[in-house]
Amino acid sequence: MMKQAVSVLLLLGIILEITGVAAIQLRFMPDPPTLTTYGTHRMNKSDNLDLTCRGRQRLLWSTPPTSTRLSTSDCSGSGLFCLTLTITNATVNETGQYQCYYKDLKVEDGKTAAGVYVFVHDSKVPFVPSEKEYEVVFIREGERVVIPCRGSVENLNVTLNTVRRILFCFILSYRKS
Ligand SMILES: *[C@@H]1O[C@H](CO)[C@@H](O)[C@H](O)[C@H]1NC(C)=O
Ligand SMILES: *[C@@H]1O[C@H](CO)[C@@H](O)[C@H](O)[C@H]1NC(C)=O
Ligand SMILES: *[C@@H]1O[C@H](CO)[C@@H](O)[C@H](O)[C@H]1NC(C)=O
Ligand SMILES: *[C@@H]1O[C@H](CO)[C@@H](O)[C@H](O)[C@H]1NC(C)=O
Repeated sequence: MMKQAVSVLLLLGIILEITGVAAIQLRFMPDPPTLTTYGTHRMNKSDNLDLTCRGRQRLLWSTPPTSTRLSTSDCSGSGLFCLTLTITNATVNETGQYQCYYKDLKVEDGKTAAGVYVFVHDSKVPFVPSEKEYEVVFIREGERVVIPCRGSVENLNVTLNTVRRILFCFILSYRKS
């Protein structure tokens, strides 16, 4: 009687293990979305750019916080979801990371998301304006504050530094490419 109970438990354990393995294999993971442009894209001020993303599930684009000259259009077809992001009449504000991801899945670059970094060159504006104007920043001890200092050209080496207790975003060097 006891021995039988043990073997039933053992069998139950094996069945649970098998269904566990099956469940892991069945968990559906689609291929990452594909883009028409990967890595880094350089463009000039006033240019337009289409970034098309295709994938097996519903898609969304995330865009830099400063970018505004954007529109999206649905290009789904042939059994694939498709979403085109269009940048029109670009300014340095459109500089930044553009990422296309599956709307209903956890965002993981290379798995459920794909991205491209866009630089919009404007010789008159070497820095990307920050989301908000910083005039005075109060920082309490132990607090973390992020102050962006981003170049609109990739070969700018920039740094943040204080001059008479005022923080400035500086160009350290310019690498000719
Ligand atoms: C940007 O403009 C410059 C000067 O007008 C030109 O030489 C360069 O090819 C343009 N770059 C792109 C990516 O269109
Ligand atoms: C592009 O934007 C600039 C202002 O940033 C404006 O002067 C110009 O007319 C716009 N060009 C087009 C084609 O919309
Ligand atoms: C760029 O973004 C900054 C901050 O949001 C804003 O003040 C500025 O007017 C924008 N410039 C253009 C050309 O859209
Ligand atoms: C940027 O400039 C600093 C100081 O000149 C230098 O130490 C650093 O290596 C530079 N970084 C790049 C990416 O060129």
